[in-house]
Amino acid sequence: MDSRQSELASALVEHIEIGVIILDSELRIQYWNSFISQRSGKALEQAQQQPLTHIFPEADTPCLNEMLALTREHGERACPEGREKPYLIQLPFDISGEYAPLMLQNTLLFPFKSSEGQSLFGLLLYDSTDFTRNNKQLDATLHALSSKQFEQEQLIKKLEKANAQLMQSEKLAAIGQLAAGVAHEINNPIGYVFSNLRTLASYVHDLLRIIDRVDSAANLDELRQLKRSLEYDYIRSDVEALIGESEDGIERVKKIITALKDFSHFEEDEFRLADLHRGLDTTLKVVNNELKYKAEVIKEYGQLPAVECMPSQINQVMMNLLVNAAHAIEQFGRITLRSGHENGWAWLEVEDSGQGIAPHLLNRIYEPFFTTKPVGKGTGLGLSLSYNIVRKHSGRIEVFSTLGQGTRFRVWLPIQQPTQPQAQTQAQEDIARYE
Ligand SMILES: Nc1ncnc2c1ncn2[C@@H]1O[C@H](COP(=O)(O)OP(=O)(O)O)[C@@H](O)[C@H]1O
Ligand SMILES: [Mg+2]
Repeated sequence: MDSRQSELASALVEHIEIGVIILDSELRIQYWNSFISQRSGKALEQAQQQPLTHIFPEADTPCLNEMLALTREHGERACPEGREKPYLIQLPFDISGEYAPLMLQNTLLFPFKSSEGQSLFGLLLYDSTDFTRNNKQLDATLHALSSKQFEQEQLIKKLEKANAQLMQSEKLAAIGQLAAGVAHEINNPIGYVFSNLRTLASYVHDLLRIIDRVDSAANLDELRQLKRSLEYDYIRSDVEALIGESEDGIERVKKIITALKDFSHFEEDEFRLADLHRGLDTTLKVVNNELKYKAEVIKEYGQLPAVECMPSQINQVMMNLLVNAAHAIEQFGRITLRSGHENGWAWLEVEDSGQGIAPHLLNRIYEPFFTTKPVGKGTGLGLSLSYNIVRKHSGRIEVFSTLGQGTRFRVWLPIQQPTQPQAQTQAQEDIARYE
């Protein structure tokens, strides 16, 4: 460095708003700049060659020793956390000599050698009050943010709870619908079994009269006449028909009840291997009442292996699709059920010849509460519930619709559930998307 350069450097050091102290290897003060003189109120001349901690006893702290040790050991600068240790050296005055303690400091200690090869330390002090104040503001903002986040988490929890309740109420609505359907379905056979019973009772009454007469009748002719007058031949032929019919009726009721039992394991929440065709047939029986006046049901089942699923939940999905299909048909139409599998996936399909879905509504149908049906008929939760169930199965739902012609829903389910839990897979998908 030529003299011009060192002149410039010294001028700079005298003017910067940073305290500069030069110490020898024993930490004796060699030099400090005017920033230190002004702020400490001490004169450099009196401090020169004095140990730093004599002039600034407050600096005699474990912190200084630590910095020193680090600097000596690694030959590198050390910088204690300004926020925890408010100051190393007390500098109580501001630039105009007013009392304004500069209490928050960042400190930097580093070794260097003079041009003569003397080992020295540079100690830099600078005011970190603003920085700390900003930090504090940042901290406050962060704190506010994190409490906001907490609020949001609470809100999300509430939403999840409300959602679960909604799903529950949709299940209840489905059960209500089911109960109504089943009542209707059972009412008919029970009705005629009951009326048959009454006819049979009157027949039995007549038959008993004939048999009772056996003991008191004077002759066979009298008995024959009674038989004729009570139309015994007709009773005889009708009794068989009545019993046969009643048996059929009871059989139907029995079937419906078995189907209901199969269907209604609503609480069941475990994956197991299931025959999807059987589930679909059961579901069909249960919603038969909704379908039979609206559509001819055509089954075009393919081959299906046993599929790992929660069968009652898949039944619920198929029930929603079937009921929607029936609702979409205005007069009388067709509902076709298909199935198949490929590459480890099984699918079930419900196609209707109903009114179809307008293209601009297609991406809204899975929204909770989205319904185009009049109040009382639609809850708008059926497809949203179904979507959640299928997602829980790591599956997906496809929909194809042509306005005025019909709609086809296809549910894809993995034949075997992936070994990773669904949540994790989803998280990985999300990560992959952001990468
Ligand atoms: N098979 C279908 N044909 C026509 N529209 C359908 C069909 N399935 C669903 N939708 C439409 O999707 C909406 C939402 O269905 P969903 O969630 O089951 O609720 P909801 O049946 O109570 O209205 C229905 O209101 C209807 O507009
Ligand atoms: Mg519905």
